[in-house]
Amino acid sequence: MYRIASIGGDGIGPEIVTEGKKVLEAAGERFNFAIDWTDFDIGADRYLATGKLLTEDDLFELSKFRAIYFGAIGDERIKPGILEKGILLALRFHFDLYVNLRPIKLLSGVETPLAGKTPADIDFVVVRENTEDFYVGIGSRFRKHEKAELNVARELYNVKFGLDVESDAEEVAYQIGVVTREGSRRVQTYAFELAEKRKKKLTSVDKANVLSDVYGLWRDVFSETAKKYPDVKTEFTFVDAITMWFVKNPEWFDVVVTPNMFGDIITDLGAMIQGGLGLAPGGNINPKGTSMFEPIHGSAPKYKGMDVANPIATIWAGSLLLDHLGEHRAAAAVVSAIEQSIRDGVVTKDMGGAAGTAKAGSYIAECVRKGK
Ligand code: IPM
Ligand code: MG
Repeated sequence: MYRIASIGGDGIGPEIVTEGKKVLEAAGERFNFAIDWTDFDIGADRYLATGKLLTEDDLFELSKFRAIYFGAIGDERIKPGILEKGILLALRFHFDLYVNLRPIKLLSGVETPLAGKTPADIDFVVVRENTEDFYVGIGSRFRKHEKAELNVARELYNVKFGLDVESDAEEVAYQIGVVTREGSRRVQTYAFELAEKRKKKLTSVDKANVLSDVYGLWRDVFSETAKKYPDVKTEFTFVDAITMWFVKNPEWFDVVVTPNMFGDIITDLGAMIQGGLGLAPGGNINPKGTSMFEPIHGSAPKYKGMDVANPIATIWAGSLLLDHLGEHRAAAAVVSAIEQSIRDGVVTKDMGGAAGTAKAGSYIAECVRKGK
């Protein structure tokens, strides 16, 4: 029996999580485990009604679970940034979910916009650092003069900046990116270990030619960590170049490790080459603590309640969740069932099918049960 927390969130979030749960329960029936879900009402509606984003109490309750199944957040009634920073990023930071695992895999039967590429060419994993970089959320806007104390408080370290800035520009905005030796080392180590289990090739992404302090450190740590994994072939790429190679030669990649900000950008590109945002899953992982699994797409508010959203990304994120729990056979069966539903054409409109969200989800659950 596994106890798992779920947060449907906003927009299409609740619908797609419902489908994901159906499929994970079917996997439990076939592989002899049960799941006990605890749903949390966190998101835009609660925020508008009560002003609460993520409370101490939510965090305490969520910390009792090994895994959180997360739909999406984002709502047009609320200014961009409030829910994202107050809920999603707050969860990533609070639980120190330092690995953002994003498989980029073209499933059989899915169309990619890359001419001539097949599932044999598109099968790699992006390991995105998930707690540092320009995501730490420290910065400001000011005119003339600003004195500020900026803090980053983490389990691993604390950083405090004291700033005293003078300017005669009309207005100034700045945002500080933070990269640490230990933060880089732990996520890169995770990526090396993953590469060892795969094709033993690891690509590191940075922009050390321009942002040479933050990504210079990232690069130095990568070179040092590489010495411990002599059987893994390594390479550096600049982030601008990797966007080109993802399109031109995706078959070159096995595992890609990247700082947070660039990881955000290149995984949307990755989602497109694997067939679209409706298919791309992600895991926010703390190998020793509570981890969180979600589709990488957002809440698509205009499709809320219309039974049109593609549930595959969320169901696939559920497969990553099962992997995290150690249910590897069940995790693989979920991906096979997704592939079966695609072969049978029981897919949503974005993939050229006629099924609604619920029908597509139920069909995948049925395939899992039947062992297809
Ligand atoms: C993602 C999203 C988030 C991010 C947003 C919603 C804060 O784009 O998970 O990729 O930037 O990390
Ligand atoms: Mg993103």
